Amino acid sequence: MFCLTCPTDPRWAPCAADALDRVLVDHAHCEMKAASSALSLSARCLDAPHAVLPLVALAREELEHFERVLVELERRGLALGPPPVDAYAAELRRRARTSCRGDATKYVLSDRLLVGALIEARSCERFKLLAEELERRGHDAEAALYRELLASEARHYTTLRQLAIDVRGDEPATLRRLGELARLEGEIVASLPVEAAIHG
Ligand SMILES: [Fe+2]
Ligand SMILES: [Fe+2]
Repeated sequence: MFCLTCPTDPRWAPCAADALDRVLVDHAHCEMKAASSALSLSARCLDAPHAVLPLVALAREELEHFERVLVELERRGLALGPPPVDAYAAELRRRARTSCRGDATKYVLSDRLLVGALIEARSCERFKLLAEELERRGHDAEAALYRELLASEARHYTTLRQLAIDVRGDEPATLRRLGELARLEGEIVASLPVEAAIHG
């Protein structure tokens, strides 16, 4: 899906559907982190003011997703609890940072936007797999939630990818860099155990 280089392990969706409560708690934290990351990116766009409004709009939408998943947690009597360790996102950010060429603001910011785009692409792929698995099991309400959210995450992927191109000002170079980061992302996904977590 999109630029992803490694498809999710086919064991992931049944594993996630078996432990949907755990996935929903992890998912709530992912939406909250996506909102705060978009907001923090918007504050770094001093040299790219045209990127501020789209990032603030994205942050608002992620906050709405966070609220929707929180409502689902409450409906199920689940507590949000402390944020689980997200080895996937931490490793992706670390590898992007260490492989970033050039330390001008535009390279660093463009890379951060591309990392965000990749996380959106992976979330979108996983939401689709989970929605299909939940439909197979007759859990239509939960499947509908994931169907709706995956459409938003697909738009976020496109927005972040385009902002990365605009910030760097060189489309071919940005897309080559996206390809490099997508290969790193695929290696990380292939190295992580199959777990009941959005990026596990
Ligand atoms: Fe979201
Ligand atoms: Fe998103």
